[in-house]
Amino acid sequence: MRPILIAGNWKMHGTVSSTKTLIQQILEESKKIEVELALFPPFVHIPQCNELLSRSNISFGAQNVSEYADGAYTGEISATMLKDLNCRYVIVGHSERRQLFQETNTQIANKCIRALNASIYPILCIGETLLQREKNLTLSVVKEQLEVIRILKDNCSAYHQIVIAYEPVWAIGTGQSASKEQAQFVHAAIREIVRNMDSADSDWANRIRILYGGSVKPDNAESLLSMPDIDGALVGGASLNAKQFIDIAKAAGKEG
Ligand code: PGA
Repeated sequence: MRPILIAGNWKMHGTVSSTKTLIQQILEESKKIEVELALFPPFVHIPQCNELLSRSNISFGAQNVSEYADGAYTGEISATMLKDLNCRYVIVGHSERRQLFQETNTQIANKCIRALNASIYPILCIGETLLQREKNLTLSVVKEQLEVIRILKDNCSAYHQIVIAYEPVWAIGTGQSASKEQAQFVHAAIREIVRNMDSADSDWANRIRILYGGSVKPDNAESLLSMPDIDGALVGGASLNAKQFIDIAKAAGKEG
């Protein structure tokens, strides 16, 4: 059984004060939640998570990490800095970073390697655009993006600790989620692609967690999370509201 993970990606939102309130509300509401929760604030609010969540079961992490270890890289944040603040996870290759900041598979793989070397679990985001889906290219696009894992496998022995998030770009922030059947179809295909990457450890594909992201809300979470290959959610907009985020986690709990 793969442990469910409900992750909240706060993107570039919040102030010190609003973030404190949101963390406290989530802490308060999460008391009876049995699935793992993880929060992803902007870098500058990670110290607040470190302070306020230290005695809780709630994990946290960053939305990005440098592909470099350390040195003269103005504006970058390294994996060891994130580990120093007790980050458990880091999101890598989010479609906003691929599209707006032109991140490539090689850069994303390097970020994963930095994270894994610092004992941080990368959450690798993949997913097709609407145009790609309409052209029936979904599976070839996710396969191409999963090349990151092939690069990882050749360069980092901890590669099997990666988490995948399937996030169709057309569903992100649009209010239009993939249907549970559409999502399950791609999740199962991703697991099969991963399985074929490692003939020596075929069980790895059964253990890897594949989250779904893209307009996950309290009212669609239960049906998405009921699918056999969907192991959690990466939630954007709804994670900025403590009640909605916790309601999504409760829907996941019903499955377990
Ligand atoms: P959304 O964002 O839930 O607002 O669609 C998801 C994401 O970008 O991770």
